[in-house]
Amino acid sequence: MKFFIDTANLSQIREAQDLGVLDGVTTNPSLMAKEGITGHQNVLNHYKAICEIVDDNVSAEVIATEYDEMIKEGEALAAIDSKIVVKIPMIKDGIKAIKYFSNKGIRTNCTLVFSAGQAILAAKAGATYLSPFIGRIDDMNWDGVELIHQISTIYAIQNFDTQILAASVRNSLQIVKCAEAGADVVTCPLSAILGLLKHPLTDLGLAQFLADHKKANS
Ligand code: G3P
Repeated sequence: MKFFIDTANLSQIREAQDLGVLDGVTTNPSLMAKEGITGHQNVLNHYKAICEIVDDNVSAEVIATEYDEMIKEGEALAAIDSKIVVKIPMIKDGIKAIKYFSNKGIRTNCTLVFSAGQAILAAKAGATYLSPFIGRIDDMNWDGVELIHQISTIYAIQNFDTQILAASVRNSLQIVKCAEAGADVVTCPLSAILGLLKHPLTDLGLAQFLADHKKANS
C-alpha cells in the first residue's frame, strides 16, 4: 500500500519524505488556500516546489468544471513535471476529461467519490487513482471503510486497473482499516502517519531495555 500525504504544507511534506515511507502528495483547492497559496502562477510554482521534494505522484486539482477548460488546465498542470497526477472531480465533464487524459497517457486522480457506482464510472474512463472520501462519509454516519471494501471487491471481480486511493483519512486507525479493506493508497495528514508509531508498550519496553543495559554496563 502506498502512503500519500494530504497537505500543501512544504515542511510537513519534507518531514514525511525524510521518514522514507512517502509515495506521493495529494492537494486540493482548500489545502492550497490553507497555506495561503493564491493566484495562478503561485499555485503552479507551489506544485513545482512539491515535485522537487517527493519522488512521484503529486496530485494537482483542476478548478474548471467544464470539459474544454478542464483539458486546458489539466494539460498545463501535467506540463509542470512528470510527477504530476491531474486531479479531476467526479462530474460528467470530469469523466470525459479522465477518458481524454487516459488516452494521452496522463495519469489522473478522480476525486470527490462517495459511491461504488461512481467508482465503476471512473474505472471505465481509465482513472489511474480513485479517491473515495471516507472521513466525510463517516461524518454522515455512513461507513467509509465499508465503501473501500465494496469498491475493492468490485475492482477485483471486474479486473479494473484503477487504484483505490482512500482519501479524507484523518487518523491512524482509519489507515489500518483501509489497508485491511483493500485500499491501494491512503492519503492522510502527517499526524495520522506518525500516529502509526505509537504504542505505550513500545515506550515502556524500550525504557526497560535501556535501563537494564545501563545497569549491566555501569
Ligand atoms: O483527500 C481529501 C481530503 O483533503 C479531504 O479531507 O478531512 O477535508 O474531509 P477532509
